[in-house]
Amino acid sequence: LNFLFIFFYFFYLFFCLCELMSSFLLFLYSFFLFVYFEVVSLQIPSNTPNFVIFFADDVGYGDFGFTGHPTILTPNIDYLAAQGTRFTQLYTSAPVCSPSRAGLLTGRLPIRSGIYTSHNSYPYDQFRVFYPFSTGSLPPSEITLPQLLKEHGYSTAMMGKWHLGHYNNSLPLHRGFDEWFGIPYSHDEGCPPGYQMPCETSQHIYTPTPLYDGDTIIQQPVNLDTLIQRMTDRAISFINESSLDGKPFFLYVAYPEAHVPLFASSAFLGQSLRGLYGDAMSEMDNSVGTIYSYLVQSGLLSSTYVFFSSDNGPWTSMGIDGGSAGLFRGQKGETWEGGMRVPGILVGPSVSPFGIVTDIASQMDVFVTFLDLAGISLPTDRPIDGVSWTNVLFQSGRIPRHCYFLYRDSLLMAARCGAYKAHYITQCGYCENPPVSHSPPILYNIQVDPSESFPLNTTEPQYQTILHIIDEAVHEHQSGMEAGISQLDSYDLKVEPCCDLADRCVCGPW
Ligand SMILES: *[C@@H]1O[C@H](CO)[C@@H](O)[C@H](O)[C@H]1NC(C)=O
Ligand SMILES: *[C@@H]1O[C@H](CO)[C@@H](O)[C@H](O)[C@H]1NC(C)=O
Repeated sequence: LNFLFIFFYFFYLFFCLCELMSSFLLFLYSFFLFVYFEVVSLQIPSNTPNFVIFFADDVGYGDFGFTGHPTILTPNIDYLAAQGTRFTQLYTSAPVCSPSRAGLLTGRLPIRSGIYTSHNSYPYDQFRVFYPFSTGSLPPSEITLPQLLKEHGYSTAMMGKWHLGHYNNSLPLHRGFDEWFGIPYSHDEGCPPGYQMPCETSQHIYTPTPLYDGDTIIQQPVNLDTLIQRMTDRAISFINESSLDGKPFFLYVAYPEAHVPLFASSAFLGQSLRGLYGDAMSEMDNSVGTIYSYLVQSGLLSSTYVFFSSDNGPWTSMGIDGGSAGLFRGQKGETWEGGMRVPGILVGPSVSPFGIVTDIASQMDVFVTFLDLAGISLPTDRPIDGVSWTNVLFQSGRIPRHCYFLYRDSLLMAARCGAYKAHYITQCGYCENPPVSHSPPILYNIQVDPSESFPLNTTEPQYQTILHIIDEAVHEHQSGMEAGISQLDSYDLKVEPCCDLADRCVCGPW
């Protein structure tokens, strides 16, 4: 077309010069000009797909219908799994909430952004996430996925749990989101009434969990009975408004399910065979289905990529209220597979339905993959730990990664290269025992032995060779690692969110 355009242009000029301009040629010229610009403008939407991330909280690999749970019913998420490609060896960037979310939104290991505590002994090692009295945050120098998309014309919104700091202008509106409706941290870090979290015990020093709209607390404590419905409605209005504005959008829905204390609204309460955990899962599943159906109905699905995952493994030390890691060992807070291996589904234009990817994948890859799909270049001034999935999704290639490094806070605990995983340090997630170093490391073939039940005999030459390869990779990785300043080591009780100090931080309506 470029060629034709230029050809007719000169043709037209030639006739002009010869004073033989005919209305027919003028018509042809305008016609090709029109077609040319029409084609150019039609190319824009295909370069600017929409993105949706559904992120569950503390939900285990084994807690879904599609991963084999017998009594938790997740028909909508199972449907997503069937419509798209599943990632069976997907890792989170950290086994607890705050650093995991930092990895997802920045494409970088949380050690780089400082989302770790420098304490690794009990009880201070429990401050591995942001608390109501934390003064740190995801540093403003980090580049987030919504921030980059917004710079390229996207509308960006978040619904649900942030957990990357709240003090000193660090809520989502200051990290790339146009809109945010949700809670700043986990709802157990507060005292919503009726959920076995009393507001006024001697140990309990948290203010009630607030609900924010943007930078403003609109309710404290948050009404959990209506929270999911309101998040769902807001997500749908956001999609509607963005498409009416003709803008591509990025929507991040970070559910509080199924973090303890468990809750479900009256429509779901008592409905599941798996008790309150199953009720909470059904409510989340219903919300995912409602938002997904809206994308289908409004014709946006053909230009939208949808990613579903959970922030980390299940909190099984919560007993009956904790989820299931399926056949994986360990739980939230640990670098055993049960803490780090998470469910992963990607649905979108040209992504194979019923697809399965078994390559080593990471939630940090979502940052790189989405930018790649949007045609936006990656930041070049900093290391990015994610890699793009486009090879494996569209070209039957592989995910370009050989090794993956598993951290707890700033400690590199384990490394996986190919099928093998070496544990250099292990530590239980929620207990008083200090970290235990292993020399030589404990080695498993994770593909043959996903449950980490049969340690390999590292005196055998073949495994010594493998350990040597993993050691070298760890050494290379660590020699280039620059840790950010810890954001989880500083506290001040005065920074707890409070809508009205005079009224004990309680504000309606509910
Ligand atoms: C607020 O954040 C900025 C940017 O990170 C930092 O320079 C400043 O010291 C912080 N202020 C306080 C009071 O923590
Ligand atoms: C989007 O919002 C407009 C205006 O609020 C409304 O009239 C329309 O029905 C909505 N569209 C859909 C598909 O819900």
